[in-house]
Amino acid sequence: MAMRLDKFLTELGIGTRTEVKKYIKAKLVTVNGTVANKPECKINENTDVVTYKGKTLQYQAFEYYLFHKPSGCVSATEDLIHQTVMDYLTDTIRKDLFPVGRLDLDTEGLLLITNDGVLAHELLSPAKHVKKTYYAKIEGTVTKEDVNLFKEGVDIGEEKFTKPAELEILSSGEESEVLLTITEGKFHQVKRMFHAVGKEVTYLKRISMGPLTLPADLEPGAYRKLTEEELASLKTVALKEVS
Ligand code: URA
Repeated sequence: MAMRLDKFLTELGIGTRTEVKKYIKAKLVTVNGTVANKPECKINENTDVVTYKGKTLQYQAFEYYLFHKPSGCVSATEDLIHQTVMDYLTDTIRKDLFPVGRLDLDTEGLLLITNDGVLAHELLSPAKHVKKTYYAKIEGTVTKEDVNLFKEGVDIGEEKFTKPAELEILSSGEESEVLLTITEGKFHQVKRMFHAVGKEVTYLKRISMGPLTLPADLEPGAYRKLTEEELASLKTVALKEVS
C-alpha cells in the first residue's frame, strides 16, 4: 500500500510530522538507496527499503520490550538527574516508547516497555486485576499472621484497605525473604504494606506481571523483544472483558 514518507516515519515513532520533515531536509532518510527529499513522496511500506541515519526501518506499528530494570534508573522517559529506562534501549530509534507503570528508583525487575497505549492502559486498569509478583527482603520476622493480614487487606493510608494479596514466606528470621502477589499498583505499595505491619522492605524485585515472567538469563539493564507467545498471552489478559 502506498503511504506518504513523512507519515511512515511518524508512525514508526521517529518524530513528529514537523521533525521528520526536518530529518528529510537534512538528508537523513533514504528510500531504496537514494536520499529522499520530499516528505510527501509515496512509498510502499512493505516493499521499499527506507533508512533513517543509516538504519533500515521495519514497518511495525507497535513494539514491545521486556526490560530488566536495574536499581538506580527511573521508570520515566526523561529525568534530569538519573538514568531513565529509555537510556538502556539502545537498539530502537522510536521516540514514542514508554514504560508500562512504574517501579521505584531502587526497585529492580520486570518492566514492560511499549508504544501501545491501549494495551498499556488496559494492563494498568485496576478493573483488570493484573497480578504482579515481587520478591522482597524484609527487615523483621514475617509471620503467618502477616500472611493472613495481607489476605484480608491492610491499611496503607488510602481510602480503602488493600485488595487481597498473596504472601508466601520463603524464609523467616531477623531478615525474611518473601514472594508477594498483588493486583493493584498503588505508589510504593509493597513497601507501604510491610510498613503497615511494622516491617521494612530492604530489597524489592518484580519477577512477574500477568503472564510475563522475568527470564533468569536477562541481566539487570538488559532487554529483549517480547516473543509472539508472550504478546498473545498479554493481549488475552489485557483485552479480556471485565464484568
Ligand atoms: N511496590 C513498591 O513499593 N515499589 C515498587 O517499585 C513496586 C511496588
